[in-house]
Amino acid sequence: MQIAERMKGVSGSAIRELFKLLGDPAIISFGGGNPSKACFPKEEIRQITDDLLREKSDILLQYGATEGYMPLRRAYLDYILPSNGLHGELENVLALTGSMQGLDLLCKAVINPGDVVLVEEPSFLGALQTFHVAQAKLVTVPLHEDGLHVDELEAIVKEHHPVMFYTIPTFQNPSGYVTGVEARKAIARLAAEYDMLVIEDDPYASLRFTGEKLPTIKSFDTSDNVIVLTSFSKTISPGLRVALCYGNKELIRKMTIAKQGSDTHSPNLNQAIVAEFINRGMMDKHIEFISGVYAKSAGVMIDAMNEYFPEFVKYQAPVGGLFIWCTLPEGWDAEDLFRRAVERKVAFVPGAPFHTNEGAGKNTFRLNFSAEPEERIREGIKRLGELIREMAAEK
Ligand SMILES: Cc1ncc(COP(=O)(O)O)c(C=O)c1O
Repeated sequence: MQIAERMKGVSGSAIRELFKLLGDPAIISFGGGNPSKACFPKEEIRQITDDLLREKSDILLQYGATEGYMPLRRAYLDYILPSNGLHGELENVLALTGSMQGLDLLCKAVINPGDVVLVEEPSFLGALQTFHVAQAKLVTVPLHEDGLHVDELEAIVKEHHPVMFYTIPTFQNPSGYVTGVEARKAIARLAAEYDMLVIEDDPYASLRFTGEKLPTIKSFDTSDNVIVLTSFSKTISPGLRVALCYGNKELIRKMTIAKQGSDTHSPNLNQAIVAEFINRGMMDKHIEFISGVYAKSAGVMIDAMNEYFPEFVKYQAPVGGLFIWCTLPEGWDAEDLFRRAVERKVAFVPGAPFHTNEGAGKNTFRLNFSAEPEERIREGIKRLGELIREMAAEK
């Protein structure tokens, strides 16, 4: 049997492998990016689904438009985009089966094998995998605690002329870091100067615990070269698989054609549930509620880390998102820590797979604080802290 060239050297995602472990309820998992079960708006979704099936089942159970369910596209244009200082028309908008699909469609529409795609180091490994399958040549820009640095970014863009730049500007996955306003402006400027497509993937931006919301890169875009991915996975439910993208009309058209050959359209009922959730005015209240829950979980995790982790483990207290990024001293391998942690029924994600450059990030790991209740967060961090101390003593 032949396997396509494009699949060669692409290994399964470490996170997907990790999901297998989550079946064991004894494992305290700081692994995936799962929202808390307690944060699903179950009652609202039950009520909305009931109403939709009573009133619109003939439309919703039928095939739908590839572009997306019209009330969802309208709700995006009327509420979600304006709340981020953005305004567009229907032709700027495409509904997606998760923002992961947006990345896949963008690769199909834009990338030829060997094209340079610029990514943050570290970056979301699901995206990295999609770019590998598209046979892109990945070039990296370092991400720092205060986000991207304009001078570094500019030098790399000048040298490599990437076709596309993939960035997660707010509460990045995996680092939790936030790119500042000046860098956001610079990204939009570079997009214009170098005719570079920028993918602004921002699924965590609304999960903010303190401080002011930052302007999007798209709000500084003068060349129509920035495309925004908006996912409802972290705010409503990842299982619904509903996201949207907003950008250049011609590009959206090409992505729509690619989507026809991919899944025809995203599930109507799921799109309608999200549209109703927005149109019934439930979104803001729900986001406020879950941000409060996650702020509390993040606080519990940070307090436990301060108490149980040795001082040589470096991390930042998060102001939003779902992750805390940890750095061990040089020479440590977080995969060794991971293997021994699993024996003690604690899981997290080692940092290396989020890195593009060979050997980079071996001493880093990502902790998720949204999926476990408080007492298990404390217990898991305690076990991890004890293990790190034991391993340090063995060195
Ligand atoms: C940065 C980033 N983009 C995209 C996704 C995938 O989102 P979706 O569920 O909408 O496909 C994730 C999920 O973890 C993510 O962290």
